[in-house]
Amino acid sequence: MRLVLAPMEGLADVHLRRLITAQGGFDWVVSEFLRVVDRLYPASVFYKLCPELLQQGRTESGVPVRVQLLGSDPEAMAANAVRAVELGSYGVDINFGCPSRTVNRRQGGAVMLKEPESLYRVVRAVREAVPGDVVVSAKMRLGYEDTSLMLDNAAAVEAAGATELTVHARTRLQGYAPPVHWEALGEIRRHIKIPLIANGDICSVADYHRCVQIAGTPDVMLGRGAVRWPFLAQQIRAGETAMPSWSGITPLLQRFWQEVNASHLHKDPVGRMKQWINYLRQSYPEAEALWCLVRAEKKVERLDALLLRNM
Ligand SMILES: Cc1cc2nc3c(=O)[nH]c(=O)nc-3n(C[C@H](O)[C@H](O)[C@H](O)COP(=O)(O)O)c2cc1C
Repeated sequence: MRLVLAPMEGLADVHLRRLITAQGGFDWVVSEFLRVVDRLYPASVFYKLCPELLQQGRTESGVPVRVQLLGSDPEAMAANAVRAVELGSYGVDINFGCPSRTVNRRQGGAVMLKEPESLYRVVRAVREAVPGDVVVSAKMRLGYEDTSLMLDNAAAVEAAGATELTVHARTRLQGYAPPVHWEALGEIRRHIKIPLIANGDICSVADYHRCVQIAGTPDVMLGRGAVRWPFLAQQIRAGETAMPSWSGITPLLQRFWQEVNASHLHKDPVGRMKQWINYLRQSYPEAEALWCLVRAEKKVERLDALLLRNM
């Protein structure tokens, strides 16, 4: 069993990565994506995206962090992959799943799923550029508009020399709408020999077991489920189904609030705090009550006072 914390741009930043991985259960984490167009970024850009590189590429609790790159230019992707690895990234992940229109217009992310050859070129260039013992992984969706190229895309990633493949079991057209198609992951798994990491809508221990049964792989990536249930990976590993109560979450929220407030990375600490409370509403009724109190708040001092009184 391998449990991976998903890349989530604008959500799973260094603070959330630190707090969630500190709850245990994760094998590694993938960073938010770095968009590569045609140039090699200086180290400072990598450190801003992934401050863990300044601490041997690990979160505070020692979980390795893998930098994710997004782009379609093989040479530029390879050059930035080499730099990420030199700076201490635990391998390199390549994003072929991002649905963003801006990113897709520039031929990066999910739009590349229309042309398996383009996946091959990028993965191959990265594979050849980084040392042989460095993990090169790819993350994709089932397809752009439909799943007709799903097996070709998976095979292209494998043929190009990737070490493993993560698949979010939806097409780009589907966005994040239900249903998630874990059964398609089973097809992909039978088609490739490299490990497949299943992703999409695993939000409970029961979901994990259902997904494993349908997709036929014990390895999964947890995204929003881990934001809603920060103890999810640990619970899956321990086989426990009773999730910790709200009183187990509030110390994490308090620490998150202190960190985003103190961090120069965040121009909008209030927005970040509300974002996490909003996710937690889906798992804790107490978060719903807190949300009603804080949703309209815009000022740090006022939110601070509200949190102090109500957490
Ligand atoms: C806010 C947000 C940001 C995301 N950013 C990224 C990203 O930077 N790179 C990536 O490969 N996937 C990204 N994703 C997709 C997730 O990694 C994951 O594939 C998706 O949320 C499905 O998994 P889940 O149901 O466990 O959340 C993002 C998803 C969300 C909700």
